[in-house]
Amino acid sequence: MSGIRLEVVGDAAAVAAKAAAEFLRLGAEAIAQHGSFRVALAGGETPRAAYERIAATWKDAPGGALSWDRVHLYWGDERMVPRDDPRSNFGMALSALIARVPIPAENLHPIQIDAESPEAAAAEYEKTLRVTIPHTLAALPCFDLVFLGMGADGHTASLFPGDTSLNEGVRFAVAARHPDSGERRVTLTFPVINGAAAIIVLVSGSAKAAMLERALRGTGRRDGDPLLPVESLRPTTGSLLWLADEEATSWARPGGNRHIP
Ligand code: 6PG
Repeated sequence: MSGIRLEVVGDAAAVAAKAAAEFLRLGAEAIAQHGSFRVALAGGETPRAAYERIAATWKDAPGGALSWDRVHLYWGDERMVPRDDPRSNFGMALSALIARVPIPAENLHPIQIDAESPEAAAAEYEKTLRVTIPHTLAALPCFDLVFLGMGADGHTASLFPGDTSLNEGVRFAVAARHPDSGERRVTLTFPVINGAAAIIVLVSGSAKAAMLERALRGTGRRDGDPLLPVESLRPTTGSLLWLADEEATSWARPGGNRHIP
């Protein structure tokens, strides 16, 4: 189902449960349709509980136990730190999900944090995407699912406000730098993210409410303001689900699912 949708659930635990259910549902569909399920995982803290929920529930998925030998995991972005560093997105997914499910090691496609530079790591990752993922007619790798988070400043993956990476239209992955910490990173670019069959953005907590309203309704954007990263999430042919809890959507009307105006 294409299009952009907001789904509001109770709290962070409900966001995790819904995200896990969507992962298992989309996984069963992708495997049934084309024999594999290629996912780009998000980093940060919000997705951790969703990954743990996937690990706890995949055997009882409504479509039957997920066939992990058909699942390939990638990363939407990575910090250039060792994998045992608490900041590592791979490390977080390893402890929350990978170590708990029977996914073959060859189905893991992490960003090469031991490359000689973030730029080299990004180029290496592009090669990985080109070799391991069937491409769309637009010659872009087509993920079945991209999980994302959102920073209170409107960043997503490691696409930060004001960065030239926001306008990257050719490369699949680029080097990035966190604007506050200066931490070097690698991130997928918008052509790849927006080319996914399904994008799910996990948003939890009151700290994200103002930015989520901006992203969905344009609240606070003045004429001439540059688009913030999350405002550039526009699926080309796939679906975009904003999955948020009540705290992050305090600005919205009470009631059920909200359609984007
Ligand atoms: C990262 C993520 C980043 C994250 C947001 C939200 O590597 O940090 O890719 O985009 O999703 O910063 O992070 P929290 O989930 O921790 O709020």
